Amino acid sequence: VRVEFLDYEALADYGWSLDDDDLFRKASHADLDESEHGRLLVHPDESLLEAAENRGFGWPFSCRGGACANCAVYLVEGELSQPANHIMPDELAERGFRLSCNGYPVSDELKVVFNVKQLAELDDLIL
Ligand code: FES
Repeated sequence: VRVEFLDYEALADYGWSLDDDDLFRKASHADLDESEHGRLLVHPDESLLEAAENRGFGWPFSCRGGACANCAVYLVEGELSQPANHIMPDELAERGFRLSCNGYPVSDELKVVFNVKQLAELDDLIL
């Protein structure tokens, strides 16, 4: 599964929004570091967080077990599984937020914004 990723820090720095239709196009034209915007492959036995780590990226996490929300990502395209027993409230899940530590891609391609834990809605959840 191919994943295009973008660091929330870049959105904050450039004043972009998660709702921007052309968010990833803007990212392509900005002078971002390869750890901030790029692509990685997720193997079938890897969660999204594991894949990022195994490809050499340092995405945020803490518990690795669905209980802290430090690893949260925002789905722009595609779908990431979410175990039943997790901290993410339904309303945030419906808006596209997922946990990367135990989320497995269930679509052929994904576009995600990682490092969204600093968003106010998520900050309240972080343990
Ligand atoms: Fe804690 Fe994913 S690292 S929920």
